[in-house]
Amino acid sequence: RIAYVNGRYVPHAQASVHVEDRGYQFADGVYEVCAVKNGRLLDEGPHLDRLDRSLRELRIDPPMARPALRVVLREVMRRNLLRDGLLYFQVTRGVAPRDHAFPAHAASSLVVTARPVDLVKAQARAEEGVRAVTHPDIRWKRCDIKAVALLPNVLAKQAAKEAGGYEAWLVDETGHVTEGSSTNAWIVDTDGNLVTRALDSAILGGITRRMLMQVAQEAGVHIIERPFTVEEAKAAREAFITSATSFVTPVTQIDDAVIGNGRPGSVAMRLRELYIMASE
Ligand code: PDD
Repeated sequence: RIAYVNGRYVPHAQASVHVEDRGYQFADGVYEVCAVKNGRLLDEGPHLDRLDRSLRELRIDPPMARPALRVVLREVMRRNLLRDGLLYFQVTRGVAPRDHAFPAHAASSLVVTARPVDLVKAQARAEEGVRAVTHPDIRWKRCDIKAVALLPNVLAKQAAKEAGGYEAWLVDETGHVTEGSSTNAWIVDTDGNLVTRALDSAILGGITRRMLMQVAQEAGVHIIERPFTVEEAKAAREAFITSATSFVTPVTQIDDAVIGNGRPGSVAMRLRELYIMASE
């Protein structure tokens, strides 16, 4: 496996950044995860737009112009012979002697890695359904920025895993679900409407979320963007998560509550199929 680190393509095992990289010391950086399917990068434009927005919000200089970045992403895919998998790319404010304030002269760091994904396993997981475990949302107030500062997400996901779950559903002080630790959260309400929280600074604007909305609209499924409580989710007809890594994956259990009949919902599975077809 080959990684890209600040201008060089290097063997993955030797890919490293400086100890004074601000990503390492302050989590002062942003990232993207893109799915690769049949050798094609999915939703590249929207992912690069979101990266630009995250960089702008944190006043981190882009490491290079977009056309150059697109070449690097493709080169990492090519050197890894990546057909189906994930591309991870991360930009930090660069290497400088440790000081909280922005460094005067540091150049942004760019790291790109690739990882194959077993699509058969992912499909089997979707057909089985996963368990979500609720967890208090203790993150900061700018979750719309895709920052590498993910400690609350890490703790929530680990708690979910230790409770036998696949994803953590984060819950705000009012009892409403914000999103998953690395996914957006959806339900199908008792009237058959698709419900997901509206975009605000409490959640990340998922690219899969946006694409799925288009797919759902075209399929004539009604979408309501509003927050929902844990209680409503537990009583919902269906629940599911979306992300570049999981596409659309049904949630069949939330904490100890079984969703619907305990099998993946028909709306979620149909949307998963339509989403995968639309991305081909
Ligand atoms: N996570 N919400 C959060 C907090 C996320 O970290 C992600 C993505 C999403 C879904 O966004 P998208 O559909 O653009 O992947 C929602 C990536 C996959 C990760 O951290 O691995």
